[in-house]
Amino acid sequence: MEIDEARKRHAELSEKLLDAKYRYYVLDSPTISDAEYDTGLRELEALEAGHPELRTPDSPTQLVGAPISTQFTPVEHLERLLSLDNVFSADEFTEWADRAAGRGGTGPYLCELKIDGLAIDLVYERGRLTRAATRGDGRTGEDVTPNVRTIRTIPDRLSGPDIPEVLEIRGEVFLPEESFERLNTQLQEAGKPAFANPRNAGAGSLRQKDPRITASRALGAIVHGIGRITGSEDSEISGSASGPSDEGHLEGAPETQSGWYEKLREWGFPVSDRYKVVSSLDEVREYIEYYADPKHRHESEYAIDGVVVKVDSLQTQRAMGMTSRAPRWAIAYKYPPEEVTTRLLDIQVGVGRTGRVTPYAVMEPVKVSGSTVAQATLHNEDEVKRKGVLIGDTVILRKAGEIIPEVLGPVTEKRDGSERAFEFPRECPSCGTTLGRGEGEVDWRCPNTRHCVAQRKERLSYLAGRGGFDIEVLGWEGVVALIDDGLVYDEGDLFSLNADTLHRSPFFVNKAGELKKNASELLRRLEEAKTQPLWRILVALSIRHVGPTAARALADAFGSVNAIAEASHDHLASVDGVGPTIAGAVVDWFSVDWHLSVVDKWRRAGVQMEIGGWDPSAAAGRLLAGVTVVITGTLEEFSREEAADAVRAAGGKATSSVSKKTSFLVAGENGGSKYDKAESLGIPILNEDGFKALLSGGPDAVAQ
Ligand code: IVH
Repeated sequence: MEIDEARKRHAELSEKLLDAKYRYYVLDSPTISDAEYDTGLRELEALEAGHPELRTPDSPTQLVGAPISTQFTPVEHLERLLSLDNVFSADEFTEWADRAAGRGGTGPYLCELKIDGLAIDLVYERGRLTRAATRGDGRTGEDVTPNVRTIRTIPDRLSGPDIPEVLEIRGEVFLPEESFERLNTQLQEAGKPAFANPRNAGAGSLRQKDPRITASRALGAIVHGIGRITGSEDSEISGSASGPSDEGHLEGAPETQSGWYEKLREWGFPVSDRYKVVSSLDEVREYIEYYADPKHRHESEYAIDGVVVKVDSLQTQRAMGMTSRAPRWAIAYKYPPEEVTTRLLDIQVGVGRTGRVTPYAVMEPVKVSGSTVAQATLHNEDEVKRKGVLIGDTVILRKAGEIIPEVLGPVTEKRDGSERAFEFPRECPSCGTTLGRGEGEVDWRCPNTRHCVAQRKERLSYLAGRGGFDIEVLGWEGVVALIDDGLVYDEGDLFSLNADTLHRSPFFVNKAGELKKNASELLRRLEEAKTQPLWRILVALSIRHVGPTAARALADAFGSVNAIAEASHDHLASVDGVGPTIAGAVVDWFSVDWHLSVVDKWRRAGVQMEIGGWDPSAAAGRLLAGVTVVITGTLEEFSREEAADAVRAAGGKATSSVSKKTSFLVAGENGGSKYDKAESLGIPILNEDGFKALLSGGPDAVAQ
């Protein structure tokens, strides 16, 4: 591939993977599957192998873990946390073993399970736990000590002989599969969204602001490595990652990884009882195959996504060394996503908030990748045909990215002739209106957007969701109560709710006939919603294609709902981040009378429909118009999100990776690799004071 083409592809993929990482680790809401991430990473590695100049320090191939979020205090690890290289097949494993042998890495090997959990770094001083941190970017993590102290199996105080002065231990925290099922049932009963898999639930539980919530979630942990050890007589052993590796000497220190595990067990750490030391590669392969077998994959109380193989001898580990990201003496054998079979009992259709009618599979409940699945979307009529599934079929099911249930297709050999084809309904299952399908469109839609009860409920539910007004108390059951009990007809009536109207629904009233807490909370949150940023109000209006990103772009460019309503198609389409499809949807939306009456009702109820002090005539001339800013490291007065909001509010663009298009890099504490990249591209770098000067005086104020 030519260098220009390779550079372009590299930039595209890097952006995608960095964004995916941010969503996965910081927002706890993954958007792409692990498999897709791994494929992307491999493509990047291949590009870099052909064009080594693309291997910059901030390439996703060089990063360990994730960027850190600003919610918890950042702390620096004593030793950097490394990652692991992956293989995905028996052949790739053999290639790794050959390479390792070439560097002196032969048996005995230590085989252990790769826990699908959250990496944790624990520091003990004189045998007492003094700090626990998440992995973060491998150098700096987030301090989660109070939360980790609630994990029963992580010792607060070590016991036994030879306890070092300072001991840094690595491991994984996880939510046992059983606790995960229980937690999800509880969440669902409380009308809250369930977690997609044990890993997300574990992350959500560990990163709670209130450690009491963490304590209630019964997290577990397994340790698998040592970062730093300082002996009691001032001898220091500084670890590479999984085992200490230095010339330093600790009295009686083990000489193997497994020896250390036994020592850690003696001191009170939770060490896996499933690890195995074997002498030959064939035995390693047996271990890998054993746990790959669906019969054995769930034997451990935690979810696993593969097996980790380590050279057991620490002397050999030291001799083999590491790359910038991972040790050469260890490898992760990643398993493909788990596939199971179940019966397709029926295909039903659901109606979404914009009237889209989506078929979904109803299946005999089956456990896959950690949770029980009974439904999966089938997307649209064509997709059902393409998959070739019949009602009554045995189907193959997996979770894409361990998250989204996906029907792969039928097991045709299991058919007995009783199966029947699905017929897509021609009428809306909710309101009976004849469905329509536009030219070139794949979806059938219910055109009765005004009155269809399913659409009214879906719109209310979306409006209360995280991207809209974020009213947690208004879950699905609350929405159903509001509409079915006749408290509101649609979103237009929402802000006219009051204590009197809420009294009419049993959902908001207790046995004594008084309003429940959820009612006052709902009224309070609705009051707050009135002053939410303009982009959230746009999202809440349920305009087709206008999610948070497009809404932000529209809000920044126009400053008010009125200005957006009056803008021409071409003007809307010319806005960065909008384009003709969204522009068309916006124009269509504002041409419908009842939509305008929703806007009107909200306005009369006091919902702010414009950005205060925004001057539409100055849109193009706003302070940071055309300026792209990347923020890295920790700032004192702004969280990352606040800093990015401040840039956008001034008309600028905030992005996450440095490129030639970046106008300024704002670097706080621990800026890292983005700093180096900006410097190499000659991009001006601002500290926090410089950033404030940029916000108040524009680019000229910080001209260098
Ligand atoms: S050893 C230097 N062992 O997987 C090697 N890691 O994808 C350090 N992980 O960063 C890791 N189970 O957070 C090791 N049995 C295991 C593991 C394990 C899960 C995590 C760990 C690591 C990540 C790499």
